[in-house]
Amino acid sequence: MRAKARRNRRDLPWRAPPGETPDPYAVWLSEIMLQQTTVAAAKPYFAAFLSRWPHVEALAKAPLDEAMKAWAGLGYYARARNMHACAGLVATKYRGRFPTSELELRELPGVGPYTAAAIAAIAFNRPAIVVDGNIQRVVARLFAVSEPPRQARTRIAELLASLLSPERPGDFAQGLMDLGAGVCTARAPSCGACPFAGACEAARRGEAEAFPVKAPRTPKPNRKGAAFVLRCAELTLLRTRPPRGLLGAMTEFPTTPFEEDFDVSKARAMAPLPAKWRLLDGDVEHVFTHFRLELAVFIARVAPPVPRIENYRWAPARDLDREGLPTLMRKVAVHAGLIRSGSARKHGNDMESG
Ligand code: ADE
Repeated sequence: MRAKARRNRRDLPWRAPPGETPDPYAVWLSEIMLQQTTVAAAKPYFAAFLSRWPHVEALAKAPLDEAMKAWAGLGYYARARNMHACAGLVATKYRGRFPTSELELRELPGVGPYTAAAIAAIAFNRPAIVVDGNIQRVVARLFAVSEPPRQARTRIAELLASLLSPERPGDFAQGLMDLGAGVCTARAPSCGACPFAGACEAARRGEAEAFPVKAPRTPKPNRKGAAFVLRCAELTLLRTRPPRGLLGAMTEFPTTPFEEDFDVSKARAMAPLPAKWRLLDGDVEHVFTHFRLELAVFIARVAPPVPRIENYRWAPARDLDREGLPTLMRKVAVHAGLIRSGSARKHGNDMESG
């Protein structure tokens, strides 16, 4: 890396210092976390994972639910399941050493074309074409690409390939990521500080912000549903969601299905047991990848003895923080007064898979 470029590199915990070989496990873990999550939100999770599970075999040996709990709040829980499955595969099939080729990396659970390219370039210095959102924006501006990135994917990859540094594909990719994050930002880019301003077609036209060209937005559908917060003495009723699909394998308060034409007036009939269910004022709102959710929250108390309900379990209300509730369920807990919003741990983002 040249001195100036080194000076401007972001010091991120998964990056090896200049001249040192990166740890492929750290690179892989960071890339999985950074799928759909900001750098700022991923950092504390990355540090926690690395100190608890310092190498891939350790993570492979961790029980899935421990890994899922440690992931809680990062969103997109399918990523956590895939991460754990991937650790298992690397530990067994590859004896703890990540494969180095894009082709083999792509075979790993949770590793798509982008992540395979990023790991190949960053961890193994392979000349892979890495295109994340930041890089897409930089390239779209440099060449004033006239189509939205989704349509221009191949063209952007080809343009990027024409610029690729064959000696340092990893630094090249991360340099462009940093340029996109700090200089060539989505809004108010700092073209005056950009080393490529002289070569940038969008900047020449004085229209950097007009790129990447936006695709027409399709609004997310709205869904509704209800959650039931049932207390008995100091306990709260919880269950584990099915392993696949929305919030798969995560802990939740009992809920109804989430539907576009959900009728709240019929919700009580779907409660886990008959009780004096009280509807709280105001809904909990949450944005998933594919829909927006308005969740009505019902609360009730039943007198001891604690009833046994099949497929449910009772947890001490004051230990909810240790349950690894996904963001939506933390919001429900706050709305129901079980935890204070300030006690909620920082959330990565508000999106979950499904
Ligand atoms: N986003 C995804 N991968 C990244 C990386 N290695 N550095 C910074 N931001 C990233």
